[in-house]
Amino acid sequence: PEIGCLSIVVLGASGDLAKKKTFPALFNLFRQGFLKSSEVRIFGYARTKISSEDLRERLRGYLNKGKEDSKEDSESLSKFLQLIKYVSGSYDNAEGFQSLNKEILEHESSKNSQPETSRRLFYLALPPSVYPPVCRMIRSYCMNQSDHPGWTRIIVEKPFGKDLSSAEELSTQLGELFDEKQLYRIDHYLGKELVQNLLVLRFANRFFLPLWNRDNIDNVQIVFREDFGTEGRGGYFDEYGIIRDIIQNHLLQVFCLVAMEKPVSLKPEHIRDEKVKVLQSVQPIKLEDVVLGQYDGYKDDPTVSPNSNTPTFASVILRIHNERWEGVPFILKAGKALNSRKAEIRVQFKDVPGDIYKCQKQGRNEFVIRLQPLEAMYMKLTVKKPGLEMSTIQSELDLSYRQRYQDVVIPEAYERLILDTIRGDQQHFVRRDELKAAWEIFTPLLHEIDDGALKPLPYSSGSRGPAKADELLAKAGYVQTHGY
Ligand code: BG6
Repeated sequence: PEIGCLSIVVLGASGDLAKKKTFPALFNLFRQGFLKSSEVRIFGYARTKISSEDLRERLRGYLNKGKEDSKEDSESLSKFLQLIKYVSGSYDNAEGFQSLNKEILEHESSKNSQPETSRRLFYLALPPSVYPPVCRMIRSYCMNQSDHPGWTRIIVEKPFGKDLSSAEELSTQLGELFDEKQLYRIDHYLGKELVQNLLVLRFANRFFLPLWNRDNIDNVQIVFREDFGTEGRGGYFDEYGIIRDIIQNHLLQVFCLVAMEKPVSLKPEHIRDEKVKVLQSVQPIKLEDVVLGQYDGYKDDPTVSPNSNTPTFASVILRIHNERWEGVPFILKAGKALNSRKAEIRVQFKDVPGDIYKCQKQGRNEFVIRLQPLEAMYMKLTVKKPGLEMSTIQSELDLSYRQRYQDVVIPEAYERLILDTIRGDQQHFVRRDELKAAWEIFTPLLHEIDDGALKPLPYSSGSRGPAKADELLAKAGYVQTHGY
């Protein structure tokens, strides 16, 4: 029978991202039957001169972690590794890409498949500085219509530039080589289970529809915390900082899904149209709505500049100028080297008007979506304290995924996004105009920080971050509630 033919090329195959994220995700897809030995070959490409066997051995350790004891796993790992072939070559010269193309063609012709069904997926696990030359090479040597009439798709990942103009330059360079339909810009937060759940929650539940607006919601927080610093990545991080690393992309994507209007349908373009619209409705950020921090010890890293002004913590209030959200602050907060690791969305409702129970001092209604760790959603609400007394307490309606969905293994973000790419679903990928709108929001602020007009406040590693951030939160109207 006729079968399809899929070639997955991982460029930067010997690098960190490939080892830690790309190959493990591919392996998981293989184990679950989404990648079939009869159809798929995986080509690792990098400059290092090693053999296919060397690459397989290097990967074995990473892919094996925690699964050493299971015979089934070790068998499927061996089968998976057999799908991998390594090609070495440079990123800006024809020779390497010509041999890569030859290898792919060999695989394609060895299959009993129609050329139209051949599919090529290029995963750029590379620094963005080499995206343009690599993409030119792919375009020139690996996409010849006559020997490859099937589809070609390219996965790229942030950082996409450092500000609006550099991002637009990169977009233009890639846009000259590929159609928007061929470009899959990953933001791995869009692959997280609870992020993917956001639109379902909002638009498939009668509960939320009438409440999700300025009449009922007082403020929204989207928070990312990590309990470790920039360990080993100081050089990269110092050039970018927490706003470019986390807020402008991961948190802003979550923000879009929380704040956007209902899309016309679930078609990727309809969803992305609404995301762009809400981004375009964000007002310019005011400096008084920003608190920056830098943890003690950040500059001990020899790869970080001793005078670095780079924030490792930032809290920024975004204000949306539209009918639904006028006057509701969205506080986006991210920090490294804090006291815990957590990512969550907190939607805080307004006080109950005419509060006959005087319960408001115990806290407001709050709806919390914890993206990680331990995915959960809970609603804080006031109930009668059980017992003879007529008094009130704050309690929770709690949907904890580990308890409720014990048998479900929640997939890794990269797994899901690679599968979406193979299936041609761009819903969870960032469109070019979306990226531009995201940079438009943050570029003026980033330039002020880069020029030293705004300085990060020091905070101790392992703390809650600068105290000023709590003041900003209070100014935004957030009322601290009890419990968790
Ligand atoms: C990456 C950032 O995009 O996301 C890292 O560059 C950060 O600095 C990471 O640690 C966090 O991802 P996750 O999935 O662990 O929350």
